[in-house]
Amino acid sequence: VAMLAGPKPLSGQRLVVTAGGTVERIDPVRYITNDSSGKMGFAIAEAARDRGAEVTLICGKTEAPVPNGVLVVKVDSAIQMHDEVMKRLPDADIVVKAAAVADYRPLHRAEHKMKKTSESLTLELVRNPDILQAVGEWKSGQPLKDKPFVVGFAAETTDVEKHAMDKLNRKKCDLIVANDITEAGAGFGTETNIVTVYGAEGPVEQLPQMIKRAVAERLMDIVLSRMNRGKE
Ligand code: CTP
Ligand code: CA
Repeated sequence: VAMLAGPKPLSGQRLVVTAGGTVERIDPVRYITNDSSGKMGFAIAEAARDRGAEVTLICGKTEAPVPNGVLVVKVDSAIQMHDEVMKRLPDADIVVKAAAVADYRPLHRAEHKMKKTSESLTLELVRNPDILQAVGEWKSGQPLKDKPFVVGFAAETTDVEKHAMDKLNRKKCDLIVANDITEAGAGFGTETNIVTVYGAEGPVEQLPQMIKRAVAERLMDIVLSRMNRGKE
């Protein structure tokens, strides 16, 4: 109620958020995907919506119902997600890449259901486009006033800070939200998350285990304070 009655700090801002896992088809009935539930991205969509943002949620495979009051674009593969994100960049003020994008897809997609003809089968996989990297590259070519604020995620099992900072620099994001997915209560499919937010200068905030919506609220606060700082 307080949120509804209070000021809307993101009103007039357009936010694009990706969520869920991508689906990489092998044949008409088989595919490669991952354990992402989409919950973290959904929570971000809701938190931004409640702060007055105009939210577009580009979502892959998910288990939970998608949030109300946001524009939902359903996608299957990483390539489709890439295309849907890239075409919205010129209109986006904030981009949050919470989706679990498959790093590889099958080189060939069989037109018909594959038959078992041999004792073993090797699937050849090829690299998917890195969407966050493409967003960073696009952003580099824009004048300052047109650059969206970009937030990436990093799911790590070792050397979290090192990998998170490496991804932030490589993909040119403003913030990276890193979670150590080896910890119970963090990462894929869980209700809660345990994250540390990194900026170009290093760790910004280490959050305790919190429900994903609370993580999203805190993240939106950090995004807002950094966007405002840039305008001073
Ligand atoms: N990401 C993306 N496109 C990809 C792979 C990842 O946009 N093809 C984004 C994710 O949505 C996330 C960030 O990049 O915001 C980091 O994803 P992650 O899997 O942790 O990093 P990778 O760069 O794929 O490196 P690796 O899996 O080797 O650790
Ligand atoms: Ca990856």
